[in-house]
Amino acid sequence: MLQKLTDGGSEKAANGLPLTAHPEILPFDVENQPILKSSQLKYSYPGQPEISFPDFVCDRGGHLLITGNSGTGKTTLLHLLSGLLRVQKGDVEIAGKNLKDFSQAELDRFRGRHVGLVFQQPRFISSLSVIDNIGAAQYFGAGKSDRSAALGLLESLGIADKASKPTGELSGGERQRLAIARALAAKPAVVMADEPTSSLDDENAELVYNLLARESSDYNAALVVVSHDGRLKEKFQNRVEL
Ligand SMILES: Nc1ncnc2c1ncn2[C@@H]1O[C@H](COP(=O)(O)OP(=O)(O)O)[C@@H](O)[C@H]1O
Ligand SMILES: [Mg+2]
Repeated sequence: MLQKLTDGGSEKAANGLPLTAHPEILPFDVENQPILKSSQLKYSYPGQPEISFPDFVCDRGGHLLITGNSGTGKTTLLHLLSGLLRVQKGDVEIAGKNLKDFSQAELDRFRGRHVGLVFQQPRFISSLSVIDNIGAAQYFGAGKSDRSAALGLLESLGIADKASKPTGELSGGERQRLAIARALAAKPAVVMADEPTSSLDDENAELVYNLLARESSDYNAALVVVSHDGRLKEKFQNRVEL
Protein backbone atom coordinates (compact mmCIF):
# COMPACT_ATOMS: atom_id res chain seq x y z
CA MET A 1 0.00 0.00 0.00
CA LEU A 2 2.65 2.48 0.99
CA GLN A 3 4.68 1.58 -2.08
CA LYS A 4 1.68 2.09 -4.32
CA LEU A 5 1.06 5.53 -2.92
CA THR A 6 4.68 6.51 -3.42
CA ASP A 7 4.84 5.58 -7.08
CA GLY A 8 4.87 8.62 -9.29
CA GLY A 9 4.59 10.96 -6.34
CA SER A 10 5.65 14.55 -6.75
CA GLU A 11 7.80 16.61 -4.42
CA LYS A 12 4.94 18.86 -3.47
CA ALA A 13 1.83 18.45 -1.37
CA ALA A 14 -1.61 19.25 -2.75
CA ASN A 15 -1.26 22.85 -1.69
CA GLY A 16 1.99 23.22 -3.64
CA LEU A 17 4.12 23.52 -0.53
CA PRO A 18 7.18 21.33 -0.05
CA LEU A 19 6.68 18.20 1.99
CA THR A 20 8.65 17.87 5.16
CA ALA A 21 7.35 14.70 6.75
CA HIS A 22 5.71 11.34 6.13
CA PRO A 23 6.88 11.36 2.50
CA GLU A 24 5.91 7.76 1.90
CA ILE A 25 2.18 8.47 2.06
CA LEU A 26 1.87 12.10 1.13
CA PRO A 27 2.68 12.85 -2.47
CA PHE A 28 -0.22 12.77 -4.82
CA ASP A 29 -0.85 14.12 -8.25
CA VAL A 30 -3.43 16.85 -8.08
CA GLU A 31 -2.99 18.45 -11.47
CA ASN A 32 -5.70 16.57 -13.29
CA GLN A 33 -7.88 15.47 -10.42
CA PRO A 34 -10.64 17.09 -8.43
CA ILE A 35 -9.49 17.40 -4.83
CA LEU A 36 -12.66 15.69 -3.63
CA LYS A 37 -15.01 13.33 -5.41
CA SER A 38 -17.91 11.35 -4.04
CA SER A 39 -19.83 8.76 -6.02
CA GLN A 40 -22.69 6.42 -5.19
CA LEU A 41 -22.05 6.96 -1.52
CA LYS A 42 -24.43 5.30 0.97
CA TYR A 43 -24.16 4.77 4.69
CA SER A 44 -26.23 3.08 7.35
CA TYR A 45 -25.81 3.11 11.10
CA PRO A 46 -26.72 -0.21 12.74
CA GLY A 47 -30.48 -0.69 12.72
CA GLN A 48 -31.07 2.60 10.87
CA PRO A 49 -32.30 3.18 7.31
CA GLU A 50 -29.60 3.67 4.68
CA ILE A 51 -28.71 7.26 3.80
CA SER A 52 -27.91 7.87 0.09
CA PHE A 53 -25.77 10.85 -0.82
CA PRO A 54 -25.73 12.67 -4.16
CA ASP A 55 -22.56 12.54 -6.29
CA PHE A 56 -20.39 15.66 -6.32
CA VAL A 57 -16.91 16.96 -6.99
CA CYS A 58 -14.90 19.83 -5.58
CA ASP A 59 -11.92 21.22 -7.48
CA ARG A 60 -8.58 22.06 -5.97
CA GLY A 61 -8.96 25.34 -4.11
CA GLY A 62 -12.73 25.28 -4.78
CA HIS A 63 -15.54 25.94 -2.34
CA LEU A 64 -18.44 23.53 -1.85
CA LEU A 65 -21.53 23.89 0.34
CA ILE A 66 -23.50 20.81 1.37
CA THR A 67 -26.93 21.73 2.73
CA GLY A 68 -29.83 19.79 4.15
CA ASN A 69 -32.22 19.84 7.06
CA SER A 70 -31.32 18.45 10.44
CA GLY A 71 -30.97 14.68 10.35
CA THR A 72 -30.40 14.41 6.58
CA GLY A 73 -26.83 13.16 7.07
CA LYS A 74 -24.58 16.23 6.76
CA THR A 75 -22.33 15.33 9.68
CA THR A 76 -22.27 11.70 8.56
CA LEU A 77 -21.18 12.81 5.08
CA LEU A 78 -18.43 15.04 6.46
CA HIS A 79 -17.17 12.14 8.56
CA LEU A 80 -17.16 9.87 5.50
CA LEU A 81 -15.34 12.48 3.39
CA SER A 82 -12.69 12.94 6.06
CA GLY A 83 -12.26 9.25 6.85
CA LEU A 84 -13.58 9.50 10.40
CA LEU A 85 -16.22 6.99 9.29
CA ARG A 86 -15.30 4.14 6.95
CA VAL A 87 -17.02 4.09 3.57
CA GLN A 88 -19.50 1.19 3.37
CA LYS A 89 -20.87 1.63 -0.16
CA GLY A 90 -19.68 3.85 -3.00
CA ASP A 91 -16.46 5.84 -3.21
CA VAL A 92 -14.77 8.90 -1.77
CA GLU A 93 -11.63 10.08 -3.54
CA ILE A 94 -9.30 12.77 -2.32
CA ALA A 95 -6.94 13.92 -5.07
CA GLY A 96 -7.55 10.64 -6.84
CA LYS A 97 -6.88 8.47 -3.79
CA ASN A 98 -9.83 6.24 -2.93
CA LEU A 99 -10.25 6.26 0.84
CA LYS A 100 -11.28 2.59 0.64
CA ASP A 101 -7.69 1.70 -0.25
CA PHE A 102 -6.31 3.01 3.05
CA SER A 103 -5.93 1.03 6.24
CA GLN A 104 -7.31 2.78 9.31
CA ALA A 105 -3.83 3.91 10.34
CA GLU A 106 -3.09 5.26 6.86
CA LEU A 107 -6.42 7.02 6.83
CA ASP A 108 -5.73 8.71 10.16
CA ARG A 109 -2.38 9.86 8.90
CA PHE A 110 -3.75 11.00 5.57
CA ARG A 111 -6.44 13.01 7.35
CA GLY A 112 -3.91 14.58 9.73
CA ARG A 113 -1.85 15.72 6.80
CA HIS A 114 -4.35 16.64 4.12
CA VAL A 115 -7.69 17.39 5.77
CA GLY A 116 -8.34 20.22 8.22
CA LEU A 117 -11.51 19.62 10.21
CA VAL A 118 -13.53 22.30 11.94
CA PHE A 119 -15.93 20.51 14.25
CA GLN A 120 -19.26 21.86 15.38
CA GLN A 121 -18.17 21.63 19.01
CA PRO A 122 -14.39 21.96 18.89
CA ARG A 123 -12.39 20.31 21.65
CA PHE A 124 -8.85 21.34 22.42
CA ILE A 125 -6.06 19.86 24.49
CA SER A 126 -6.81 21.77 27.66
CA SER A 127 -3.40 21.14 29.22
CA LEU A 128 -1.76 22.99 26.32
CA SER A 129 -1.78 26.72 25.55
CA VAL A 130 -3.56 28.10 22.50
CA ILE A 131 -0.37 28.19 20.41
CA ASP A 132 0.69 24.72 21.55
CA ASN A 133 -2.65 23.34 20.36
CA ILE A 134 -1.68 24.64 16.92
CA GLY A 135 1.80 23.19 17.37
CA ALA A 136 0.32 19.78 18.17
CA ALA A 137 -1.83 19.86 15.01
CA GLN A 138 1.23 20.87 12.96
CA TYR A 139 3.20 18.04 14.50
CA PHE A 140 0.56 15.38 13.91
CA GLY A 141 -0.11 16.56 10.37
CA ALA A 142 3.27 17.62 9.03
CA GLY A 143 5.66 15.87 11.41
CA LYS A 144 7.06 19.01 12.98
CA SER A 145 5.75 22.11 14.65
CA ASP A 146 6.55 25.64 13.52
CA ARG A 147 6.00 28.28 16.18
CA SER A 148 6.29 31.30 13.92
CA ALA A 149 3.82 29.83 11.40
CA ALA A 150 1.46 29.06 14.30
CA LEU A 151 1.73 32.63 15.52
CA GLY A 152 1.11 33.90 11.98
CA LEU A 153 -2.12 31.89 11.86
CA LEU A 154 -3.27 33.20 15.23
CA GLU A 155 -2.46 36.72 14.03
CA SER A 156 -4.44 36.38 10.83
CA LEU A 157 -7.41 35.14 12.87
CA GLY A 158 -7.09 37.96 15.38
CA ILE A 159 -6.26 35.88 18.47
CA ALA A 160 -2.47 36.23 18.67
CA ASP A 161 -2.83 37.97 22.04
CA LYS A 162 -4.25 34.70 23.42
CA ALA A 163 -1.31 32.58 22.23
CA SER A 164 0.00 31.64 25.67
CA LYS A 165 -3.41 31.36 27.38
CA PRO A 166 -4.99 28.03 28.28
CA THR A 167 -7.79 27.21 25.84
CA GLY A 168 -10.27 27.17 28.74
CA GLU A 169 -9.96 30.96 28.95
CA LEU A 170 -11.19 31.57 25.39
CA SER A 171 -14.64 32.94 24.59
CA GLY A 172 -16.95 31.05 22.22
CA GLY A 173 -15.92 33.21 19.26
CA GLU A 174 -12.24 32.81 20.08
CA ARG A 175 -12.64 29.03 20.30
CA GLN A 176 -14.17 29.05 16.85
CA ARG A 177 -11.23 31.04 15.49
CA LEU A 178 -8.82 28.66 17.16
CA ALA A 179 -10.68 25.74 15.58
CA ILE A 180 -10.17 27.35 12.16
CA ALA A 181 -6.50 28.04 12.91
CA ARG A 182 -5.99 24.45 14.02
CA ALA A 183 -7.69 23.09 10.90
CA LEU A 184 -5.22 25.05 8.78
CA ALA A 185 -2.18 24.24 10.90
CA ALA A 186 -0.81 21.42 8.76
CA LYS A 187 -1.54 23.31 5.51
CA PRO A 188 -4.17 20.80 4.40
CA ALA A 189 -5.45 20.35 0.86
CA VAL A 190 -9.06 20.47 2.06
CA VAL A 191 -10.71 22.25 4.98
CA MET A 192 -14.01 20.71 6.07
CA ALA A 193 -16.32 22.55 8.46
CA ASP A 194 -19.47 21.27 10.17
CA GLU A 195 -22.12 23.96 10.77
CA PRO A 196 -19.54 26.69 11.37
CA THR A 197 -22.10 29.50 11.41
CA SER A 198 -25.36 27.95 12.59
CA SER A 199 -25.29 29.24 16.14
CA LEU A 200 -24.08 32.74 15.22
CA ASP A 201 -25.87 36.02 14.62
CA ASP A 202 -25.67 37.53 11.10
CA GLU A 203 -22.61 39.61 11.80
CA ASN A 204 -20.58 36.80 13.32
CA ALA A 205 -21.77 34.28 10.73
CA GLU A 206 -20.45 36.61 8.02
CA LEU A 207 -17.19 37.03 9.92
CA VAL A 208 -16.62 33.31 10.38
CA TYR A 209 -17.50 32.56 6.76
CA ASN A 210 -15.10 35.27 5.60
CA LEU A 211 -12.33 33.89 7.80
CA LEU A 212 -12.84 30.35 6.52
CA ALA A 213 -12.94 31.49 2.89
CA ARG A 214 -9.97 33.84 3.17
CA GLU A 215 -7.75 31.52 5.18
CA SER A 216 -8.53 28.53 2.94
CA SER A 217 -7.68 30.60 -0.12
CA ASP A 218 -4.46 31.85 1.46
CA TYR A 219 -3.43 28.23 1.92
CA ASN A 220 -4.83 27.18 -1.46
CA ALA A 221 -7.03 24.69 0.35
CA ALA A 222 -10.44 23.63 -0.91
CA LEU A 223 -13.28 24.48 1.48
CA VAL A 224 -16.17 22.11 2.13
CA VAL A 225 -18.89 23.35 4.47
CA VAL A 226 -21.87 21.31 5.60
CA SER A 227 -24.67 23.39 7.06
CA HIS A 228 -28.40 23.90 7.31
CA ASP A 229 -27.73 27.65 7.52
CA GLY A 230 -29.61 29.21 4.59
CA ARG A 231 -27.57 32.40 4.88
CA LEU A 232 -24.57 30.60 3.40
CA LYS A 233 -26.27 29.65 0.13
CA GLU A 234 -25.56 32.90 -1.64
CA LYS A 235 -21.85 32.59 -0.79
CA PHE A 236 -21.28 29.32 -2.63
CA GLN A 237 -21.72 28.67 -6.33
CA ASN A 238 -20.99 24.97 -5.90
CA ARG A 239 -23.80 23.53 -3.78
CA VAL A 240 -25.15 20.09 -3.05
CA GLU A 241 -28.47 19.50 -1.31
CA LEU A 242 -29.06 16.36 0.74
N1 LIG B 1 -23.74 7.41 15.78
C1 LIG B 1 -24.98 7.24 15.28
N2 LIG B 1 -25.65 6.10 15.49
C2 LIG B 1 -26.87 5.90 14.96
N3 LIG B 1 -27.52 6.80 14.21
C3 LIG B 1 -26.90 7.96 13.97
C4 LIG B 1 -25.61 8.24 14.49
N4 LIG B 1 -25.23 9.49 14.07
C5 LIG B 1 -26.26 9.94 13.34
N5 LIG B 1 -27.26 9.04 13.27
C6 LIG B 1 -28.52 9.20 12.53
O1 LIG B 1 -28.20 9.37 11.16
C7 LIG B 1 -29.02 10.39 10.59
C8 LIG B 1 -28.12 11.53 10.05
O2 LIG B 1 -27.47 12.16 11.14
P1 LIG B 1 -26.44 13.36 10.93
O3 LIG B 1 -25.42 12.94 9.94
O4 LIG B 1 -25.97 13.77 12.27
O5 LIG B 1 -27.39 14.47 10.27
P2 LIG B 1 -27.22 16.07 10.22
O6 LIG B 1 -25.80 16.40 10.49
O7 LIG B 1 -27.67 16.44 8.84
O8 LIG B 1 -28.15 16.61 11.25
C9 LIG B 1 -29.95 10.84 11.67
O9 LIG B 1 -31.15 10.12 11.52
C10 LIG B 1 -29.26 10.43 12.95
O10 LIG B 1 -30.19 10.16 13.97
MG1 LIG C 1 -24.87 17.66 11.88
